[in-house]
Amino acid sequence: MNIDSETSVFCLIGNPVYKSLSPSIHNISFKYNNINSTYLTFKVDDLDNAIKGMKALNIKGFNVTMPYKEKILKYIDEIDELAEKIGAVNTVINDHGRLKGFNTDGLGFIKSLEERNIFLNNKKILIIGSGGAGRGIAMTLASKNIYKLFLINRTRSKGEKLVKDIKNNYKNIDVQFIDESQIEDDYDIVINTTSIGMFPNETNIPIDPLIFNKDTIIYDIIYKPRPTLFLKKAKRQGKYIIDGLDMLIYQGLLSEVIWKNEKNDIFSMKKQIKKGLYNIK
Ligand code: ATR
Repeated sequence: MNIDSETSVFCLIGNPVYKSLSPSIHNISFKYNNINSTYLTFKVDDLDNAIKGMKALNIKGFNVTMPYKEKILKYIDEIDELAEKIGAVNTVINDHGRLKGFNTDGLGFIKSLEERNIFLNNKKILIIGSGGAGRGIAMTLASKNIYKLFLINRTRSKGEKLVKDIKNNYKNIDVQFIDESQIEDDYDIVINTTSIGMFPNETNIPIDPLIFNKDTIIYDIIYKPRPTLFLKKAKRQGKYIIDGLDMLIYQGLLSEVIWKNEKNDIFSMKKQIKKGLYNIK
């Protein structure tokens, strides 16, 4: 990559950012598209000063990850409607010191389904988890008018709050919080958005996929390991599975669309990036 005085800088802020795949994703894309930009990661302890520094240095745009997706809100001058409903921002444009916030997590999730010709109309969906990622996906699915949405979460109050927020924003969505005893077998898609099964706790599983019938698509947004035990078991049971790498790449590519204000062909770009990431375990 030729870095020169015209190179635009983009970055990820979070803590930890160790082993993040975002620099690989964006730098592969910048190189492939011949864009004079580079993408770095910054482990941030002091968000206030990090924001001041990024403005002072004219960092063109950035992604936000744990634990700052909600904390960033107070620094945002203008927020996209969906990000506001989700209550979290993962993508920021720095327009000469004015910060505009977006959230591409749920949209990245939907792209990974569209790529597989899985469309959301008339789908009955169960989402496990109501943390940051669960909120992003649930609110985005609600914005797409899905048929029926069920949420389950260890902390009931958080799940119920998400249901309330969805209902406040999307009056016609059939959404409800359920407990484990109410889980049914006939969802079209079941999505794990919790960290259960993530490295280094790879032997944990959110729920036995045997509960669900053989036509249920089992999705785990975790990409480390790939696949998780949840997906391995589901696959052994003959179910169609999807892991978290495609969603990760798509949310990144959708950030680029926002930064560059260009409609790239993100489906073919995703294939290029996946090739470049071949050694990811
Ligand atoms: P993220 O931004 O990755 O979504 P998060 O906001 O911390 O991270 O959310 C983590 C999710 O995983 C939550 O749904 C959390 O459940 P709680 O709301 O009860 O905390 C869920 N989670 C994490 N570890 C869990 C465990 N051991 N058992 C059940 N749920 C767990």
